[in-house]
Order: sequence, then C-alpha cells, then structure tokens
Amino acid sequence: MQELDQYTITDVALAQMSSTKDERLHEIMDAAVRHLHEFAREVDLKPHELFEGLRFLTEVGHKCTPHRQEFILLSEVLGLETVVNILNDLRPKEPGTRSSILGPFYVTNSPTLRLGDSLNPSGNSEEIALHGRVTDSSGRAIPNATVEVWQTDEEGLYDVQRHDELDLRGCFHTDAEGRYYLRSIRPLGYSIPMDGPVGDLIRAQGRRGHGMRPAHVHFLVGAPGFRSITTAFYLQNDIYIEYIESDTVFGVTESLIRQIKDIDPSSPVPNLPSVKFDFTLGSAIQSAECSNAEGRA
Ligand code: BEZ
Ligand code: FE
Repeated sequence: MQELDQYTITDVALAQMSSTKDERLHEIMDAAVRHLHEFAREVDLKPHELFEGLRFLTEVGHKCTPHRQEFILLSEVLGLETVVNILNDLRPKEPGTRSSILGPFYVTNSPTLRLGDSLNPSGNSEEIALHGRVTDSSGRAIPNATVEVWQTDEEGLYDVQRHDELDLRGCFHTDAEGRYYLRSIRPLGYSIPMDGPVGDLIRAQGRRGHGMRPAHVHFLVGAPGFRSITTAFYLQNDIYIEYIESDTVFGVTESLIRQIKDIDPSSPVPNLPSVKFDFTLGSAIQSAECSNAEGRA
C-alpha cells in the first residue's frame, strides 16, 4: 500500500471506478471525480467548507417537492443548464433556433387552441400578437408543427402560481405555410423562487439582478422528423430591460431578443402590437406531439 498524497488519491479513486460496465457512466464519473479533486486542490478546500457545501446540498434536496425542483434551479443559476443547452444546439449538422431554459412552469397538458385564438380569455390586459413561421434549415415551411407557448401575466406570475386553471398557455399547430399566430398579453419580468437555499446563495453572492429574469415568452416547438426545441424570446421593451444583461438563469442570448412592434405589415393579426419569432428546426430521428415533446413537467 502506498502513502496517498493529494494527487495520487485521484488515480487510486479512478482505478477503483474503472470496472464500471456502462461506458458513458464511466466517462462521466471519471471526469466528475477528476474535476472535483482538482477543484478541492485549487481552492485548498477545508474540512468545514466541505461540510458546509454538503449541508447546502442537503437543504437543496429537502426543498424539493414534485412542484418545486430546487436542484434544477441550482443547475440553472450556476449556468450549467445553459452550457448543456449550448452543447446540444451545436450537435445537429444544420443550425436551428437557439435553445433557452425550460423553467419550472411548463405543464404537459396545455390546452390545444386554434390559430388566432387568445391565451388571455379575460381580455383585461394590454393585448399583443405573437406570430412567426416554423421552417427547416433550408427555409421550407413545416406545416402542422406543434407550437406550445407559456408566459406570465402582466404582473409577472404564471397561471399555476395563481390558480388551478390553465391560461396564458396553449398548444397551436402551424398552417400550410408553417405560420403560427395568436393573441396574448405583454408579459412582465419576474423573480425566480428565492425562498430556498438557492435564493440564499444568490443573496450571499450579491448578484446583479438578485434573482430576476427579464420578460419572456416560452416556446416548445416540434414536428415529426425534426428536433424539438425548447426556447424563449426575451423582450427588449420590458420595464425590466436591465435583466436582459443579468438574467439569473442565463437564458438570454442575442439571437433570442425581440421587440414589440406597434406596426408590422407581416403580422397576420392586424391592429395589435406584435412580436415576430420564427423557428428553424434541425432534422432528427425523434418526433414531437403536443405535450409529449421532450422536456420535463
Ligand atoms: C422560467 O423561465 O419560467 C424560470 C426559469 C428558471 C427559474 C424560474 C423560472
Ligand atoms: Fe419563465
């Protein structure tokens, strides 16, 4: 038996794990252990700091319920989900629309609506239209693609945060020219859940934005034979515009920023300010249907 030092322990640990049968599990755990050991060496981690970190992760676990996924939130505020999304966007041969954070407010049973319908049946708020086309990477229309949409109300709250009814969300199908269009209301920026250990971390870091996200509308778009995308557009004319630059979960990227236009002759919904958001889908083996598209509930 050799005397272990802070470097040889890594080789010994990796050797013990080298019997892992599942190749991908082996690859992932090998790299995770190497990077974790290197991290501890880099910051010269003290025993009480390790236990503080483990206590934090335990609290993250305790905060989780079927409706509150604190671990997912943690991966989002650390930028890990965005790294994984960017890597995934680079994978297909043809470039498509960039992905963005799915977030915890996606539900699988969103109502199926017709083109031109409103997501806001009460009609009490300032209406806007959302429209665009779904095409393949050569610009060819994808008819009958599913376009699932969900967003906050004018106070920055999702339907599921207010009541049992599903509104401000819907599932649409594109027409023969690949177009979708609907009426909705102006969304507002909002804070991610800050009443758990992840919120404590953000406060301890004194982060710019303090848990805020800019106003956005989420989309999950798919069609048989194409790669589904989970994405969102972010509004430049939001009162919380500063959060475009400091989104706490790093969902914003330049190509996903949109403006509400007062007049847009290309909008199929006349007389309403509108946002145009087109989607390019890369080809894939997987198909997608309303509410069965990949993603988590
Ligand atoms: C959202 O965009 O819905 C969201 C994303 C991360 C945390 C909280 C909300
Ligand atoms: Fe959101």
